[in-house]
Amino acid sequence: MTLGRLHDEARGILDPAHYDYVAGGADRERVLADNERAFDRYALLPRVLRGSEARDTSVDLPGARRAAPVIVAPTAFHRLVHPGGERATARAAAAEGAVLVTGAAATTAVADVVAAAREAAPDPAVWFQLYPHPRREVTGALVRRAEEAGCTALVVTVDSPVFGRHARDLRNGFTDLPPGHAAENMRDLPGAPPGGLTDIPMSPAVSWRDIDEILRMTALPVLLKGVLHPQDARLAVGHGTAGVIVSNHGGRQCDAVPAAVDCLPPVVDAVGDRVPVLLDGGIRRGSDVAVARALGATAVGVGRPVVWGLAAEGEAGVRRVLATLREEYDHTLALCGGRHNADLTRDMVVRRDGTW
Ligand code: FNR
Repeated sequence: MTLGRLHDEARGILDPAHYDYVAGGADRERVLADNERAFDRYALLPRVLRGSEARDTSVDLPGARRAAPVIVAPTAFHRLVHPGGERATARAAAAEGAVLVTGAAATTAVADVVAAAREAAPDPAVWFQLYPHPRREVTGALVRRAEEAGCTALVVTVDSPVFGRHARDLRNGFTDLPPGHAAENMRDLPGAPPGGLTDIPMSPAVSWRDIDEILRMTALPVLLKGVLHPQDARLAVGHGTAGVIVSNHGGRQCDAVPAAVDCLPPVVDAVGDRVPVLLDGGIRRGSDVAVARALGATAVGVGRPVVWGLAAEGEAGVRRVLATLREEYDHTLALCGGRHNADLTRDMVVRRDGTW
């Protein structure tokens, strides 16, 4: 299993504290474990005799038409795990035709990330993830950086009014980036110190007003990441966002929430076809992508597997992760009698315990 092998390689290479920073979750890591386990509870019920020689797995996403419904979720500090850092990830995602979500916590400035993506493909899609900053002018400066760099959408993460408690990091004393690394997008912002691990401020007071302000600041499509409650998904659409990402931050924030995939169907029902709904958390194989598609996700985000690919083999490792997921997904689609993503429907997902 390619993804498992890359994870093992990464574990062998990385400083144990850095490995734990990526691998770990919040508190007792119940959600972290459940995100993956939840996919074992779903089974696919194939249709037969309706496939075709070639399948079309392409998807339309805000600011991007892409080859497969798999995108690179935003994960912090890529230079911590490989000297190629976010540039390597960007080249790999662009070459594989996947959206890359880079973010405020990248160790490479967004302009350099987009430039690297353009080296690999003429029309890459790079989205920029940010947290609503307690100071509006800082949020504004970040949005402008992303726009000027050429990002085609913004992802606003809303599940982090405060930092999650990461037991492994506390145990390892991993509280800041090693010398020579910084959250480069946070440099030279109004009133902000040069970035380190703790220089991405959270604010428990962020509200829909902050989202409205961001929507007014930019003409780019804005997706909200970290929505679990269907009522919040409805509000997101009502406020004018271009998409909702169902995510529990890979189990790194509240350790009492459901597995991400279990939150997907109610959100899809609340949103309908008004905007795309994406999912991240626990995606480890192509059949997970197929289950998410069948439950109504337009696309899925992949976090840790991309970081393991980067740590193990740099750009080639990230390419391998994305290509493997795409090939496995295409294979699953064929096995389920599908020609298009839309041929995977909710009636084709059943509970593995036999309840329908
Ligand atoms: C993250 N994630 C994240 N999300 C975000 O919005 N901004 C960020 O800066 C980060 N940073 C980050 C660092 C690391 C090391 C991890 C593992 C995750 C969450 C990420 O976008 C995504 O929600 C999860 O990683 C998805 O779960 P999987 O694919 O890792 O199981």
